Amino acid sequence: MNLNRLRAFVVSMTRVADAASSEPEMMAAARPLLADLVAQDDWLPEAAALPDPERYRQYLLHCDPAERFCLVSFVWGPGQKTPIHDHLVWGLIGMLRGAEVSIPYTRTTAGALIQDGEPEVLKPGDIGAVSPWGGDIHQVANLLDDQPSISIHLYGGNIGAVRRHTFGTDGAEKTFISGYSCETVPNLWDRSRELA
Ligand code: FE2
Repeated sequence: MNLNRLRAFVVSMTRVADAASSEPEMMAAARPLLADLVAQDDWLPEAAALPDPERYRQYLLHCDPAERFCLVSFVWGPGQKTPIHDHLVWGLIGMLRGAEVSIPYTRTTAGALIQDGEPEVLKPGDIGAVSPWGGDIHQVANLLDDQPSISIHLYGGNIGAVRRHTFGTDGAEKTFISGYSCETVPNLWDRSRELA
């Protein structure tokens, strides 16, 4: 496991957050960094790659101390899917293992939710996006019904603390705060193992 890659991402992303003058600018600058991170699958700690038979998991890998961004390992069990939901902060999805499919939704003037465009399939190395300024509502599923999939999510805030919504297709919304699946965050700052 090459934690250096994850550490380097966090350092670069912190510099991006320091330099960006707007959320769209930060999102645009983050995209190639996330693409680099998911281009190789040798860095994700095993503890953040474990599926759960009941429900998809969201492991926090890093949260910026100022909550300007966070990085999450999203682990799908076979056939699992989310409800239709929003984010209310920008997000980039980098596919690491397996495959997932995202169905975009939009609200009609009558308030119902309807599918808005073609489902988007992400394969390892692909990057998807959501944002409050375009395409914030979707439903996502593991495309594989016989094995886990993992995508790495970068959000423009502390997504586990954001008060956001799930939706029924009739437009009925429910407020939720996702939290994270587990209290364990990899220790990026302990270099004792590098002596080996
Ligand atoms: Fe989402």
